[in-house]
Amino acid sequence: MTQPIVLKEIEAVRQAVKQARQRGARVSLVPTMGALHAGHASLLRAARAETDFVVASIFVNPTQFGPNEDFERYPRPLQKDLQACAADGVDAVFAPEPATMYPEGFRTFVEVTELQDLLCGASRPGHFRGVATVVLKLFQIVQPDVAYFGQKDAQQVCVIQKMTRDLDLPVAVRVCPIIREADGLALSSRNQYLTPEQRQRAPVLYQALQQARELIDRGERNPALVQKALEDCLASSGGMADYAAAVDAETLRPLQPRLRRNVLLAVAVRFGATRLIDNIVVRVPAEKAPR
Ligand code: PAF
Repeated sequence: MTQPIVLKEIEAVRQAVKQARQRGARVSLVPTMGALHAGHASLLRAARAETDFVVASIFVNPTQFGPNEDFERYPRPLQKDLQACAADGVDAVFAPEPATMYPEGFRTFVEVTELQDLLCGASRPGHFRGVATVVLKLFQIVQPDVAYFGQKDAQQVCVIQKMTRDLDLPVAVRVCPIIREADGLALSSRNQYLTPEQRQRAPVLYQALQQARELIDRGERNPALVQKALEDCLASSGGMADYAAAVDAETLRPLQPRLRRNVLLAVAVRFGATRLIDNIVVRVPAEKAPR
């Protein structure tokens, strides 16, 4: 098992990528905030399989956390993460200090307007501005051919895809499926905050999504009724639903008057101070036009 090179400076990343490119390598980037789990491993393995030089970034990005969020206590098990990167064949890890990414006097931010304010954006103002800004910076530093993200953060994926298109960034965004525990709970670095009792209730997110999917499969096309089914199921768990939505999977806008095309079923639930999200995309077959 080869150890990845660990780089803390932007110039060192540029040099490593330049040398890889001189060897003819296709370069990939897997942006992470560390605390790596099997969900991240699936991204790293996809990058390993599909490209020649894999860069993983590990950076708990301060600009995507609100003032009362978990920035300080977010887990930072760097040595364990480096072992995981080695096991998954990562070539280089970029683990900068906050001052490297945001030096004194930093003033430039990226906003993907409208998309950034919906769903999670409504209860986490500024979150997607921070995500878009750091991801654009990472794209600029690494200049990857391909970047890998998890479908678990569906809105993040929409925001990054939109930014990539709008700013003509020469990077292919690959989205990998959600990895789940046996009981359906989507893997997340924040699952470790749950008490044993909260952990028992947490699979309700996936159960609610499945129930709503079944409803759609049985022919329900009324968005309000599907949303109510999600809310009712979440309410049964005692978690506080932040939102439960059935929206257009690309624009994240409500679908009116009927569900159609690709429907994103998305939920966010608070268990105490821990906020979990999950989603599934349901393809709704085209309806025959009335004669
Ligand atoms: O999904 C994450 O872990 C983060 O939002 C990302 C994309 C690494 C940006 O900080």
